[in-house]
Amino acid sequence: MREIPAPPMGLLAELTHRCPLACPYCSNPLTLARASGEMDTGAWLRVLTEAAGLGVLQAHFSGGEPLIRNDLEILIAHAASLGLYSNLITSGMTLTHKRVRALAEAGLDHAQLSLQDTEAEGADLFAGAKGALARKTAAAAMLREADLPLTINAVMHRGNLDHLEEMIETALRLGAGRLEIAHVQYYGWALRNRAALMPTRAQVEKASEIAAAARQRLSGIMVIDYVTPDYYAERPKACMGGWGQRFLCVDPVGLVLPCHAAATIPGLDFDNVRERPLAEIWRDGQAFNRFRGTEWMRAPCRNCEWRETDWGGCRCQALALTGEAEAADPACHLSPHHGRLRKMAEEEAEAAPPAFIYRRL
Ligand code: SF4
Ligand code: FES
Repeated sequence: MREIPAPPMGLLAELTHRCPLACPYCSNPLTLARASGEMDTGAWLRVLTEAAGLGVLQAHFSGGEPLIRNDLEILIAHAASLGLYSNLITSGMTLTHKRVRALAEAGLDHAQLSLQDTEAEGADLFAGAKGALARKTAAAAMLREADLPLTINAVMHRGNLDHLEEMIETALRLGAGRLEIAHVQYYGWALRNRAALMPTRAQVEKASEIAAAARQRLSGIMVIDYVTPDYYAERPKACMGGWGQRFLCVDPVGLVLPCHAAATIPGLDFDNVRERPLAEIWRDGQAFNRFRGTEWMRAPCRNCEWRETDWGGCRCQALALTGEAEAADPACHLSPHHGRLRKMAEEEAEAAPPAFIYRRL
């Protein structure tokens, strides 16, 4: 008999795919949900209630841009009433003082603000929108004035990795308590733009040194999270903390996914939270059980000592790079595809970058 899985720690509530930005590294799927298909307030309130009942501790409100939803404050207030820690993941582009006050009054616990670059021109280019840097700087100030703890999400790639020092200084100046230096993950739109985004190995090595030094220098002042990009790593990350183990995502139309890119994997049946209780989906859903635990693994993961640490890495990346979602993530040096991956990354990074394909609804 199958074991009953422990409850998830976090719910990723993808309220909408609508967004004022058009970042070429967006992790949203290639087919975006239209506003007309989005779940209404009542359905999202029920999702939050069911998530808290299931044992979820954190609700991450994301998108697209969650601020586009006028009911965001209602959802955050409901999350607070359920004892859920609420986190807003935002571009900050449409933030106003009034909105920040309303969010804080609703009980928002934390905000994560994305920053595309430290120079206005680069910020506009990587966001596919005008005035991004000025708006984000203003958004950070508003969030800090409301005393909301702030994390800056800096998505790094070949175009901005040489500005990492400035990015760290900017996050500090904006009052962030945490900086997440996240290299682009190549799924969704980012996979399409991989050649335009792939950094060189030299860029990555330098960035790793800068991040390590800053982490030491700023200890006790600002937390810095930095993870080596997969294509230059030796071992993969435990994507989503392990499939079906720590997180669940609910997309704008109500599909419940083990990760935001899971829809790229053929053969998975996704339940809709409008039709089946969340707890049942988490426990019995075909998509959640397909890659939960270690039973599904093949060599080299099956007998590997790391199999319950990284859970074989990322299923979506394994599929995208090997054609098989059951394969070890090629970010792992034990994968037979690892050498090819490394070579491909180096070749793409050395070639002239192609133009971005922007993500637009
Ligand atoms: Fe992780 Fe599989 Fe590589 Fe082992 S072989 S380190 S379990 S990806
Ligand atoms: Fe789907 Fe990693 S993004 S498992």
